[in-house]
Amino acid sequence: MNPINQKYESMKFDSRRKSYYKGLKAMQNLGYVFDDYIHHFPSFAGHMTIARFLGLYELYKMSLGVAGHIAEAGIHKGFGTIGLAKIVKIFEPESLTLVHGFDWFLGMDSTNEEPNILKGSYKEDYKRLMKLINAQQLGNIIHIHKLDLKTELGTFFKTNSYLQFKLVIIDAGQYDIVASCLRNFWERITPGGILVFDSFNHEISPGETRAIKELLPNSKIRTLPWLWTPTAFVVKE
Ligand SMILES: C[S@@+](CC[C@H](N)C(=O)[O-])C[C@H]1O[C@@H](n2cnc3c(N)ncnc32)[C@H](O)[C@@H]1O
Repeated sequence: MNPINQKYESMKFDSRRKSYYKGLKAMQNLGYVFDDYIHHFPSFAGHMTIARFLGLYELYKMSLGVAGHIAEAGIHKGFGTIGLAKIVKIFEPESLTLVHGFDWFLGMDSTNEEPNILKGSYKEDYKRLMKLINAQQLGNIIHIHKLDLKTELGTFFKTNSYLQFKLVIIDAGQYDIVASCLRNFWERITPGGILVFDSFNHEISPGETRAIKELLPNSKIRTLPWLWTPTAFVVKE
């Protein structure tokens, strides 16, 4: 990545990067195997990665008891979608709660407003993700919808008009995508439910903040004070 004028949020923890990557390199030469990384994951994952997952868990807990499914717009390798399906498995084993994941599997587009988001970054292979989901027998909880969030959500909801959500995560921070998600998901969030923004008020994606201010001008935008990302959420009143 060749960052252009990044000086605020992106740089707050910049001093950690060098030693973190040095540590990761050192860890690769210690003789651990795939099973170790899975079964002892907190020994290896960094605290900021673990915090992201705990953040999703906290937001999920806040939505428990509100009727509706969970959605993630922008899936990449499934951190949120697969992670939340496992949380549902633990905390709602007898409910009908589903996790709907939306992505076009083409990675990010480049825009003038977000010069630091590179075209094609965060691209994941659809078939590989499906194999990952099926290998863990999560296909009854997770439903992946391969579509363009900018233009195809309206059609999706025409054929699935009853769908309601208790927790919606928007993680594809560009104006057109966030605006389209707000136009389509907001009315389908059950009051009491939660809408989560990965990068509100972050220099990497000014279009995300612009869309939220434009389309949800009167909402109280909150944050989990110990969390770096997702940066914000709104409880629908
Ligand atoms: C930052 S990644 C998501 C990361 C993921 N939520 C996580 O927690 O790891 C953004 C995703 O948005 C997807 N995306 C970008 N533009 C899109 C569009 N117009 N329609 C659908 N998906 C899009 C990309 O393919 C990418 O997988």
